[in-house]
Amino acid sequence: MVLKTKILSALKHTEGYVSGEQLSTELGMTRSAVWKYIKALKADGYKIDSVRNKGYRLIASPDKLDEEDITNGLETTLVGKKLILLDEVDSTNEEVKRLAAQGAEDGTVVAAEHQTSGRGRFGRVWDSDNGGLYFTILLRPELPPSDIASITLAAGYGVCLAVREYSGADARIKWPNDVIIGNRKICGILTEMAAQSDRIDYVAIGIGINLNHRLFPEEIAYKATSLLLETGKQVDRSTFLALVLNHLDKVLTRFLVSLSVEDLDDFKAICATIGRRVEVDRAGSKLSGIATDITSGGELVVTDDDGVNVVVGSGEVTVQGIY
Ligand code: BTN
Repeated sequence: MVLKTKILSALKHTEGYVSGEQLSTELGMTRSAVWKYIKALKADGYKIDSVRNKGYRLIASPDKLDEEDITNGLETTLVGKKLILLDEVDSTNEEVKRLAAQGAEDGTVVAAEHQTSGRGRFGRVWDSDNGGLYFTILLRPELPPSDIASITLAAGYGVCLAVREYSGADARIKWPNDVIIGNRKICGILTEMAAQSDRIDYVAIGIGINLNHRLFPEEIAYKATSLLLETGKQVDRSTFLALVLNHLDKVLTRFLVSLSVEDLDDFKAICATIGRRVEVDRAGSKLSGIATDITSGGELVVTDDDGVNVVVGSGEVTVQGIY
């Protein structure tokens, strides 16, 4: 741990004031070094009260991902065992793909405060402003490439569980890769992979969650929401990241072993698309009908207007009453 982090940790774990002398003795540095690091923490956005003869007290932390808080909350066996936090990156998916090519380990997670080229499905831009959570999980599952749709579904399910546990909100999956509350999107998932014909080399599961957004760009304002807008409460992003990684770890590791009928039933029960009228854009042609089921491969079954069941693996889906 670098000295600045050690001072921050001491401040966080002290109820009242901690004296400069105590910090300098415990951390083996001079009083002026302590002062220098306190100044650096203030420059990072920490509000620290300094009182003569009493010392220092942490009053508020910036809304920044905090490695110690995240690691303290993690209870995972695979996901986030290696955690990389970045201030800025082009896209966490791109970073994970670069790291994967260099042999990065299974379960590595890259999270960033900002993405300069955050991407969504169909080459869309994913706005990556302050207040959101942007991260990508690297997995090296022993699964065939055809399982990619189920991996996305499992990830969406994990996000739903985290949102439900944190806020009590009725988060649901909008097949294939969105999480919604009511009829608005709170999370998007972009799963990419490198694969041989019969085996996945790695998957990069990129997840963007709207947490503390108060406003959205005009083009998406009608269909986007954030946890803050839903609950009226500011979200501690580090706590939430640990929570969502815990849920994703459970769901994804279970899935990597085998997806049972019960697991699939759980996914379906939380899927807002099932039972609704949908329109699917499949490379130009449109399919209309009622979404009736999800297959064990994570595909959507649409019963068209002639009563024929059509299995849809991907595509842009409009769900009546949602978006
Ligand atoms: C979508 O809804 O179209 C998917 C959005 C996925 C956004 C996340 S944010 C973290 C990761 N990095 C990216 O560039 N995209 C994903």
